[in-house]
Amino acid sequence: MFLQNTFNTIAFSPAEWMGLPKNYSAHGDSVGHMIDVVTWFMIALFVGWTLFFLYSLFRFWHKKNPEASYYGVKSHLSTHLEVGVIIVEAVLLLGFALPLWSKRTDTFEQVLKENPVRVRAIGFQFNWKFHYAGEDGKFGYIDRSLVSAPGDPCIVPEDPNGWDDFVTEKLRIPVGKPVILQVTSTDVIHNFSIIPMRIQSDAFPDKDIPMWFTPLEEMETSVVCGQLCGLGHANMVSTLVVESEKSFNEFSKQRSDESKAESKKLHGEKVAVAE
Ligand code: CUA
Repeated sequence: MFLQNTFNTIAFSPAEWMGLPKNYSAHGDSVGHMIDVVTWFMIALFVGWTLFFLYSLFRFWHKKNPEASYYGVKSHLSTHLEVGVIIVEAVLLLGFALPLWSKRTDTFEQVLKENPVRVRAIGFQFNWKFHYAGEDGKFGYIDRSLVSAPGDPCIVPEDPNGWDDFVTEKLRIPVGKPVILQVTSTDVIHNFSIIPMRIQSDAFPDKDIPMWFTPLEEMETSVVCGQLCGLGHANMVSTLVVESEKSFNEFSKQRSDESKAESKKLHGEKVAVAE
């Protein structure tokens, strides 16, 4: 609490100074705050070690110390200091980092109750595809062994839950509603990152990793890959559009209806039964 108050009273934000773009998500300020706190600690370490380095240059200058000491340091001060550092770091990790992380991950159940938009973000060399659950709100059953093309959502064709699912090139979401993104990949490890929303997660080919945020304003920005994944890594950029709920609902309904019509052709009567 004391630390937080101290840092809140410092108006200067090193993260902003170093180019962190404006925040657009509900939880984002706390992430920016954490980056600031860590940066202040790094600045303190940099200044401290630089001063110690300069002190050592003069203190152990060869002209002042013509004979080498074969005993070195005799006091136990450095050992005590090292044990002290280990204790402080253990307290930071067990007392602060883990409880704060579990508090954040525990909100998942809460987000689920708020009728979130659910999208799967599928990375591949070298772009993203977005798999929406459609109007029924349920993803079709996923079988990763079915992968037929880069970015394939791998929906089992027989599962009726997947018949209104649709896939897009751009990520479109409504403003002011929580979004759960399930991040995955169809080839190597990528990293899904939207800096203005302060979210980032690795994308693994064998897992869907959920993460969530609530966009605060209508806007458009880039979705980038944050993990070196091959020669095209730097071009692995897609687009996020945050739009009004009305406009999003129209888009979602239209694409969902199109998929359903397509499935009707493929599966014939069975679609009518599923409805
Ligand atoms: Cu995908 Cu870098």
